[in-house]
Amino acid sequence: MKIVVVGGGYVGLVSGICFSELGHDVTLVEIDPAKVRAIREGKPPIYEAGLAELLQKHANKNLHVSQGYESVSSSEIVFIAVGTPSQPDGSANLSYIEAASISVGKSLKNNPSYCVVVVKSTVPPGTTDKIVKPAVIIASGKTEKEIGFAMNPEFLREGRAVEDFLHPDRIVIGSSDSRSGNRIGQVYQGLTAPIIRTGITSAEMIKYASNAFLATKISFSNEIGNICKNLGIDVYEVMKGVGLDTRIGPLFLNAGAGFGGSCFPKDVSALISLAKENGENPILLRSVLEVNDQQPCRMIRILERKIGTVKGKRIAVLGLAFKDNTDDIRDSRAILVIRELLQKGARVVAYDPLAIPHMREIFPDIEYFGSVAGALRGANGCLVMTEWPEFSKIDKEFDLMAEEVIVEGRRVLSRKGVEGICW
Ligand code: UDX
Repeated sequence: MKIVVVGGGYVGLVSGICFSELGHDVTLVEIDPAKVRAIREGKPPIYEAGLAELLQKHANKNLHVSQGYESVSSSEIVFIAVGTPSQPDGSANLSYIEAASISVGKSLKNNPSYCVVVVKSTVPPGTTDKIVKPAVIIASGKTEKEIGFAMNPEFLREGRAVEDFLHPDRIVIGSSDSRSGNRIGQVYQGLTAPIIRTGITSAEMIKYASNAFLATKISFSNEIGNICKNLGIDVYEVMKGVGLDTRIGPLFLNAGAGFGGSCFPKDVSALISLAKENGENPILLRSVLEVNDQQPCRMIRILERKIGTVKGKRIAVLGLAFKDNTDDIRDSRAILVIRELLQKGARVVAYDPLAIPHMREIFPDIEYFGSVAGALRGANGCLVMTEWPEFSKIDKEFDLMAEEVIVEGRRVLSRKGVEGICW
């Protein structure tokens, strides 16, 4: 199928490359010339396991990239995968969605065949019908007989996005008619997963509710963890027992410093503002964020209980990325911890296998090391913020510390008896 994907960010790039892996003829539309150059040279502009290999396999064969929308005029499906960042009030900024819809509409004017416009970005329910559809119809001068509309959310996890795309738990297709929905179904032929056919607004809400529930599981585990810690109970033992209940499931019950990333905090905030706009008081969702915002700095309380004031002390932060296997620091819990340590006059040093360049943009004045040993040497305290598997191998490096005071924010160390944020 001739597919156009608008937006070469995380979702657009991974989806576009994986669509070409499924055998489709794909054109990525990306406005950033640097990204266009990188993609043309077969170099993914983001770090994502397995993506470079697929890009090299398909680039300039059945995967093309352009800054313009010309390819839309010969496309059968156009996926809109541009960003929906948060606005200061937490609601989703839909200006990129609207701009892309107008550009797609203008190019569809020259498309002689039936085409389906599909939203893949995470958007508040109602966005496709109220913003995308009118913008495309007006700009194209065409009718819904000639253009179909649908919503097809992604559930990709950073660091495992290619695997999640090619082995999804489910494929959700929200469409206003069967013709447009059927065409999207054809795109995913070759993938074995249950396909949910539903309405457009339901599909939009499935995405938000899924992320909000996963975030709720994490904040719930953290709250239970905080209670368990006071009772001297190991929350991981507890969650093992809880997670065996098939109604609950074992995943996303890992207590720790809280969730970060470009999705959970943003999507829960957007859902809260959506609820308020519709006269609902989202008590539970507010609490999910409240627990998450308070959680990381508990680690500093524990550290201060052990070493007193952190003022003038050398504190090592191990892990800067919001989770392992990515260089992404967006809403990383490490940011809150570093900020508070600096405010309290600590000398912060840090190590992360991938995320130092991004964190240096936020904290240019802290000391970054290329190894765990470098960061721990002479430290008066250590906070573990990211679940990097390599941290499970740390042992003799702790002997380099001036004071061997360690607080785990992620259950990753193999050293026994290390105190954790909620264990
Ligand atoms: C998430 C969703 O998983 C994905 O389906 C959606 O499409 C995008 O948002 P991502 O943000 O990449 O993916 O990260 P994820 O692996 O879900 O982790 C999110 C955060 O939760 C990380 O900070 C992680 O450390 C934390 N986490 C995860 C926990 O604290 N405990 C857990 O048990 C799992």
